[in-house]
Amino acid sequence: MSVRVLVLCVQVFLLFSVECGDPRSEEGYPRGFMAVCSGSTKPASIPRSQLKYLFFVVQGKGRSRKSYNYWDAKNIATDPRIDLRRKTMVVAIGYLDSTSFPISGMFANEYEAKGYNVILIDNQRFATVHYYLASRLMRPVGKHVAEVLVELTRAGLDPTNTELLGFSLGGQTASYIAKNYQQMTGKNISRITALEPSGPCFRTLSSQERLDASNADFVQVVHTNIDGYGMSARMGHVDFYVNGGEFQPTDLNVYPCTATCSHFRVLSLWVSAMRNPKKFIGIKCNSIQEARDSACYNIVPLSTNVMGENVNVTNQGIFYLSTDKVFPYYLGKNGLKPEYDSWRKISNINDGNETEVYT
Ligand SMILES: *[C@@H]1O[C@H](CO)[C@@H](O)[C@H](O)[C@H]1NC(C)=O
Ligand SMILES: *[C@@H]1O[C@H](CO)[C@@H](O)[C@H](O)[C@H]1NC(C)=O
Ligand SMILES: *[C@@H]1O[C@H](CO)[C@@H](O)[C@H](O)[C@H]1NC(C)=O
Repeated sequence: MSVRVLVLCVQVFLLFSVECGDPRSEEGYPRGFMAVCSGSTKPASIPRSQLKYLFFVVQGKGRSRKSYNYWDAKNIATDPRIDLRRKTMVVAIGYLDSTSFPISGMFANEYEAKGYNVILIDNQRFATVHYYLASRLMRPVGKHVAEVLVELTRAGLDPTNTELLGFSLGGQTASYIAKNYQQMTGKNISRITALEPSGPCFRTLSSQERLDASNADFVQVVHTNIDGYGMSARMGHVDFYVNGGEFQPTDLNVYPCTATCSHFRVLSLWVSAMRNPKKFIGIKCNSIQEARDSACYNIVPLSTNVMGENVNVTNQGIFYLSTDKVFPYYLGKNGLKPEYDSWRKISNINDGNETEVYT
């Protein structure tokens, strides 16, 4: 460490009591996977002839489904699976995904069981192209989905009872849907839940060009792979950085949970949170850096919030959420104790003289 850095470090230490000798001040911080994608902010549109490939799949009553395209989607209002007095969940799928693949079906089943109307957006045709293009095309997809939601609003859909859920690229699509809906109606969608909203091609965009807390009455974001497929920036009213948000813990003697595994972990975490609504308790941090470093356990006064449908919408901020390594992942109140922190427990392997078993 150079003298200058050391002096700076001591000054910073005196000011903010951060830990000295953190090599990141010398080594730099990650740019993140695909931080900048050339041309990704160029205008994008979908020709009218292609809109018949934008599908809305309604699921209800014993998992029965009916698919509508953009042109006949206004008929969703009279679909027997739909009751506009109930809550409605609109699900935006991720890159390369389709409503005939398992992820959206998993969410549809969970929300159907909770009594929601479920509408799955199938934009596979526009999300199964080069990623740079897909990330651009989600802007017009969002606009056209919003047009359909506006038509449904005329037929009785209540935006205060309507939510959007999006995983990965779908987390960003949800933002474009909500923002266009705001512009067209002057009203907010009540809630966006973004599970690992995509970072690639989005992480350097301004908050107006990607998911942001201003998009809906309430935005909850769950981060599990912030420098890889996800995004480190705070984008919601409440942002959970699960186990620091960088990588997720697993049994390292079995297989390490690298970027893809950490990104997809958010799906089973969310399903578990729906089934265990009070068990994922996060601790408020002062910064994303503190969340990355799991350095929020001793903050006084301790402030907590619960990840999931029961999130406290008035306790907003950045939350560190500690989980177990395996499904169902939750730690309940033990999640507030540093000794249950999965990464710390994994590190402890060397404190127990583990190598002795080999001698
Ligand atoms: C919409 O939501 C945003 C962010 O939560 C909020 O600032 C704004 O006032 C809301 N707009 C309306 C019309 O309620
Ligand atoms: C929600 O958070 C607010 C602000 O921190 C707090 O005053 C309130 O008691 C919390 N509500 C519940 C149900 O925990
Ligand atoms: C590990 O080994 C050290 C030195 O041999 C010993 O002092 C310590 O008690 C051991 N720890 C455990 C958990 O066995």
